[in-house]
Amino acid sequence: MFNKRIRIKDLLASDKANYEATVMGWVRTFRNNQFIALNDGSTNNNVQIVATLGQFDEALLKRLTTGACIKATGEVIPSLGKGQKVELKATTIEILGDSDAETFPMQPKKHSLEFLRENAHLRFRTNTFGSVFRVRHALAFAIHKFFNDKGFLYLHTPIITASDAEGAGEMFKVTALPLDGTAAKNEDGSVNYTADFFGRSTNLTVSGQLEGELAATAFSDIYTFGPTFRAENSNTTRHLAEFWMIEPEVAFNDLEDNMNLAEAFIKYVIKYAMDNNKEDLEFLAQRLEEEEKQKPQIERSEMGLLEKLNFVVDNDFERLTYTEAIEILKESNHNKKKKFQYLIEGWGTDLQSEHERYLVEKHFKKPVILTDYPKEIKSFYMRQNDDGKTVAAMDILAPGIGEIVGGSQREERMDKLTQRMEEMHIPAEELWWYLETRKFGTCPHAGFGLGFERLVQFVTGMGNIRDVIPFPRYPKSAEF
Ligand code: 4AD
Ligand code: MG
Repeated sequence: MFNKRIRIKDLLASDKANYEATVMGWVRTFRNNQFIALNDGSTNNNVQIVATLGQFDEALLKRLTTGACIKATGEVIPSLGKGQKVELKATTIEILGDSDAETFPMQPKKHSLEFLRENAHLRFRTNTFGSVFRVRHALAFAIHKFFNDKGFLYLHTPIITASDAEGAGEMFKVTALPLDGTAAKNEDGSVNYTADFFGRSTNLTVSGQLEGELAATAFSDIYTFGPTFRAENSNTTRHLAEFWMIEPEVAFNDLEDNMNLAEAFIKYVIKYAMDNNKEDLEFLAQRLEEEEKQKPQIERSEMGLLEKLNFVVDNDFERLTYTEAIEILKESNHNKKKKFQYLIEGWGTDLQSEHERYLVEKHFKKPVILTDYPKEIKSFYMRQNDDGKTVAAMDILAPGIGEIVGGSQREERMDKLTQRMEEMHIPAEELWWYLETRKFGTCPHAGFGLGFERLVQFVTGMGNIRDVIPFPRYPKSAEF
């Protein structure tokens, strides 16, 4: 058996000394020809390995370069240096993988996030990305724990679908047909998809919601957690072409139940990360503080990262309707002084992210849940309110992020649903299976979608969504 190592995190966590241990990992630095800082990704803290002068071959010492992978065995001893309780006094050091010091891109110095994005295959080996991805892991685990503890069923919805769940048409096509022009055509010149792999036109899913609704009308409480895809050409710090979404769907929930679930859920997973990733979050808070110092005073956030997370966990989200939000925005000095790029003139238009951020960051200074949007700017499946103008929708807006959750109570009444689909040109025959839930034992139900990367962004304080997913997909980028 080769792998008899102790994780560096576990080794450093204990005061225990005077025992033999083996560690394996990647060299961060090697100084004075005797002190190796070794990291294995279990924590940002490196273990110090002492290679006592004169005890090791010169040829071996030369190979202890930044990035090299080594195995070291020796005695764990109390450390004389500050910053660590113990260190490892090596008796043997074995090079598992050399790393050419001249060409290894992750030098022990500060690199820009842009540079690290171009080296996404190696950026895991930095402190920033070490912390980000350990927090991402913890949040994913907390999500499953939250729903499992509440008795929800984890449903795997399909990645390849024939429907457009959001009715927005921003989909990636999936086809096995040749793209050289030789694919069979219909009389009107369009591609004949009956000859394609699935015998029809298919695409990558934009949301698992519709399938989630099918399961909720049997299991009562379900959630999905999987990749979703949007072919929208959005080059922003909040958009990815491939992102992960969590979509609970609950029978017998109305809009208020839905808001209560979403708020409790967000608070739970943030609290989980704060309890379980203290060290990483402290590191990220420090990183953010340094980054903020580079910004002009007015752009700096008032709270530090940990303060912000505590605040979100401890305070109620502000709940108001779209109509109330429009009034606040219209009457705001910001609008009157024409500081918005898109001025708020009246009721009915969609809110831009500048408006969402104004509400959250300037007006309420806390997360906000907006409800009851005009039906024209929302999806076909949302439950129509009695006013004939709005739907039982909800968006949760978070400081620094904007929309983090989108959801609604669903239209469970068959006649209302089909009428809305007709108005919005959603072909009912393609969604016959969805409509059957309304035909056989329909029930009030509600759900929402949380963008996982936007949550990770919020918790880690990372400014760009491309830095919280291992290998980001965005326009003109799918290198790794
Ligand atoms: O608001 P959206 O489009 O809602 C849905 O897809 C519903 N079917 C959800 C539901 O009710 N079950 O997307 C939900 C969330 C957004 O609030 C946002 O956090 C995230 O998904 N999101 C994106 N995240 C990263 N990149 C993108 N391009 C995103 N588009 C949406
Ligand atoms: Mg939305």
